Amino acid sequence: MNESNQSFRTLAVDIGGSGIKVMVLDTDGQPLSDRQRLKTPHPAKPENVIDTILTLAKQQEFDRVSVGFPGVVQNGLIKTAVNLNSDWLQYDLATSLTQLLSKPVKVANDADIQGFGAISGKGVELVLTLGTGFGSALFVSGKLVPNLEMGHHPFRKGETYEEQLGRAALEKEGKKKWNNRLEKAIANLDRLFSYDALYIGGGETKNINFDLPSNAKIIPNVNGLLGGIKLWTS
Ligand code: BGC
Repeated sequence: MNESNQSFRTLAVDIGGSGIKVMVLDTDGQPLSDRQRLKTPHPAKPENVIDTILTLAKQQEFDRVSVGFPGVVQNGLIKTAVNLNSDWLQYDLATSLTQLLSKPVKVANDADIQGFGAISGKGVELVLTLGTGFGSALFVSGKLVPNLEMGHHPFRKGETYEEQLGRAALEKEGKKKWNNRLEKAIANLDRLFSYDALYIGGGETKNINFDLPSNAKIIPNVNGLLGGIKLWTS
């Protein structure tokens, strides 16, 4: 139980390029419901994505909402949405959902939330997510450096990390090349950040077929929902 002894149910929402997931968490961040998932609608414009969230939310009881969004988010405002739709740019998702759900809503980058669900809070911790896009989050002694967006930085051969390691690249180039690239990316990022720990999440982690360095580990997808509690507690 938290210090105020009040209990809150948090609806955690994870908006992904292929699926939208929800789960209800108790005040301490423990799951109170199973994870529910619907496909991300196409085109993934704000009104369609919000309709899907409302459908999922209708089936749950909750007092407040945490949303992970696959783009840069500042003060509830969407700044980038490379893998969804350009209609999201400058969209005030936090205010919109607050009005529609009549509950307080906080929105953050999806990889940042996934990281909150995984980190130990010690030293420099880097989180990568391998799904439709290439997500990244950086924490120093548990404190988030928001919206890292490593995915859109140059990696190799004139391409970004996301161009080389996103789902489209995996499907086009195949697992062998993708794994070789991922190994190189991990070595690169270790040199860049000298992190104490690296956590790798996202649906495509199932394709990793090499031994990770000892300071790196694969984390479950549910972290992308569990981390939502931290938007209210940190
Ligand atoms: C976005 C990031 C996001 C990542 C994973 C990237 O294309 O720019 O903000 O975290 O995809 O969804």
